[in-house]
Amino acid sequence: MTSSDLWDEDTAEKYDDLSAEMFAPQVLDPAVDFLARLAGSGPALEFAIGTGRVAIPLAARGIPVSGIELSAPMVDQLRRKAPGEQVPVVVGDMATTRVPGQFSLVYVVWNSIGNVRTQDEQVDCFRNAARHLSPGGRFVVELWVPPIRRFPPGQSAVPFEVTDRHVGFDTYDMVTQRGTSHHYRRLDDGSLRYGYSNFRYIWPAECDLMARLAGLELEQRVADWDGSPFTSDSESHVSVWRKPIDAH
Ligand SMILES: C[S@@+](CC[C@H](N)C(=O)[O-])C[C@H]1O[C@@H](n2cnc3c(N)ncnc32)[C@H](O)[C@@H]1O
Repeated sequence: MTSSDLWDEDTAEKYDDLSAEMFAPQVLDPAVDFLARLAGSGPALEFAIGTGRVAIPLAARGIPVSGIELSAPMVDQLRRKAPGEQVPVVVGDMATTRVPGQFSLVYVVWNSIGNVRTQDEQVDCFRNAARHLSPGGRFVVELWVPPIRRFPPGQSAVPFEVTDRHVGFDTYDMVTQRGTSHHYRRLDDGSLRYGYSNFRYIWPAECDLMARLAGLELEQRVADWDGSPFTSDSESHVSVWRKPIDAH
């Protein structure tokens, strides 16, 4: 039993349109370049593969890519773009689901590890990644740094986008590290649509500890797919942990 929200059909159908900016070449290409470099000849495995935003262009580079995804409706959307032979996907929880084979690269992007909402399950995601890696293989996580410094005392909500089409803000509980992203969107017909997703935030150092529990070693941490340095002001990180060559 997972603590993740189950993304429904309506959300899945609208996902690519509502995430259009994340499909833009200037956002996507550096991510695919970065992952392709680490995968070598592969194979690669994406946790929370969604509708294949990253997996499909990575597979187009000639790297075999498989996926694990909790939401069958998200996989249905992926299938409209790529057949099962091209990008095989197992519907299941990335904390526990096993797929056949060993991988040079396992990755989870766009904050998706935070969709699993307990610390134990997040540790299990790292363990599950390590289980799928061949010795020397890498686990890559793209994750935001929780913007806790923006909270004045007593405030529990932080806006992340305010435009005439979209008002998005996060609410946080500092005790459980759980929160909710709220989205109010104005649609083309003028109506308003509310959507939300729940998460548990993880600090970079907490990720490193989870990786160590899984037998992985930190190899690289940068602020973004373009390789810019990670600093105390970075709002996101792309972290790479490696399974030791002599791991069993
Ligand atoms: C923000 S989307 C990212 C999808 C895709 N990786 C991308 O970059 O576009 C998050 C995805 O995580 C999936 N997800 C959430 N919890 C999960 C879990 N425990 N195991 C597998 N997938 C999960 C959701 O169904 C959704 O497809």
